[in-house]
Amino acid sequence: MDSRDRRLWWQWGTIYQVYPRSFMDSSGDGVGDLNGITSRLDYLQWLGVNAVWISPIFPSPMKDFGYDVADYCDIDPLFGTLAEFDTLLAEAHRRGLKVLLDFVPNHTSDQHPWFTESRAAKDSPKRDWYIWKDARPDGGPPNNWLANFGGIAWTWDETTQQYYYHAFLAEQPDLNWRHPQVQAAMMDALRFWLDRGVDGFRVDVMYHLIKDAQFRDNPPNPDYREGGHPYSALLPVYSCDQPEVHDIVALMRRTLDEYEDRLLVGEIYLPIERLVLYYGSAGDGCHLPFNFQLLLKPWNARIIAAVIDQYEAALPAGGWPNWVLGNHDRPRFASKAGAAQARVGAMLLLTLRGTPTIYQGEEIGMENVPVPPEMIQDPPGKTLGYGRDPFRTPMQWDGAPNAGFTAGNPWLPLAGNYRAVNVAAQTDDPASMLSLYRDLLALRQSQPALMAGAYRPVPAEGDILAYVRELDGARFLVVLNFGRQERRFALEPSLRGNIILSTHLDREGEATGDAVELRADEGVVVRLR
Ligand code: GLC
Repeated sequence: MDSRDRRLWWQWGTIYQVYPRSFMDSSGDGVGDLNGITSRLDYLQWLGVNAVWISPIFPSPMKDFGYDVADYCDIDPLFGTLAEFDTLLAEAHRRGLKVLLDFVPNHTSDQHPWFTESRAAKDSPKRDWYIWKDARPDGGPPNNWLANFGGIAWTWDETTQQYYYHAFLAEQPDLNWRHPQVQAAMMDALRFWLDRGVDGFRVDVMYHLIKDAQFRDNPPNPDYREGGHPYSALLPVYSCDQPEVHDIVALMRRTLDEYEDRLLVGEIYLPIERLVLYYGSAGDGCHLPFNFQLLLKPWNARIIAAVIDQYEAALPAGGWPNWVLGNHDRPRFASKAGAAQARVGAMLLLTLRGTPTIYQGEEIGMENVPVPPEMIQDPPGKTLGYGRDPFRTPMQWDGAPNAGFTAGNPWLPLAGNYRAVNVAAQTDDPASMLSLYRDLLALRQSQPALMAGAYRPVPAEGDILAYVRELDGARFLVVLNFGRQERRFALEPSLRGNIILSTHLDREGEATGDAVELRADEGVVVRLR
């Protein structure tokens, strides 16, 4: 048995995030769909990823583009049908690809029948499925909690004369997860998809599910500066990350464990020491609480080195690490770090210990796309000027009109550079970003040390980040230059070997001697002797 056999699929695999509205449109309506995804599975298999996480595809009024679910057990007609989903799943499985769905349990759409029933009357049987509170004596909201997309997190309901709570839009009322019937209904929704054969879930804002039982005011954030995101004015001490949330995570985990080999991933934006608690203990937590350090921290070698050490040290026994460079909520990595450094970022992501997640388009170096004011779609883009549209533009497949994404009018503009930056052009270019991703993925899959080996930092200064990955006698040194200057990195005798991959894809086989010379923005993987 080699080291791979002893691990679960999600420990040796790489996850690829599909944002379905922008991946591939098969119908010509300008919005991506399920058949579009199915038609591109060959590409994902060729790329070398192992699992596809699809952002929400359930019936939705699309106020938050699917993160406002009106029915947990169906497919929105915009994306297709249940039968088309079954085809997607079967075709993915046929290619050895796992499929993860995006479960949005914290809130529903205000159009979900549960909420319609809940808001109908104070004595509705579903009243307590959501969070309703009386006004303060002065008529104001029950407490000071803020909504993530701006404004206060409470909306007044004229008919029943109470406020309801929503951590995001008013059209996304929060469910009351302390209610046993809510728990049962939501576990049934999970089983609906598990029975169909999905391989797991990414759980939206998992750390939001339980709120303070007394609904105490959140304290002001002492670090808040005028002009910052309004939500950051308070510390969400009482609205997020409550101790009882771990009981809900355990409940979800038990439900998944009724089935074989299913994966629970949590979307959790918390400091490392709080984040790792979501692993739970004795198998009652989330398999992969998303680790967003690389997308949150500045791209600086010393800061990233410290973050890796901190994360590795904080992981509980048996807690499997994971790393993320980008997603549909955050600026594109290639825009944050620059096109040249995006290659260094790819090498880091795919040579760290733990499961990597790639966001669609990262593998071709897609950048933020400026969206003119009249084309803004994302609600916080309209109200706060913090829209996420620039990171959600259509996938750039080829040099045809609209980059081969749609035969119609795309719902968001294409990047201006799509004729040069696209999958087809990069497939044929051995030095492209896509070739680098593919080579890194293949290398990782063929070398258990890179997939599962121990992580050992190597002392370095300035712009250099260096580490060794090792397993069963196989050892690899990774040296990354985060800077725009050439660097010479001296190697002690035990760290000498042969370069097997450079970000520039042109040094394979070269022996290192007593140092490795790195060009600006270059990273190398060295197989040690
Ligand atoms: C998560 C999603 C984001 C969504 C929000 C509310 O953060 O990633 O896109 O807007 O939750 O559901």
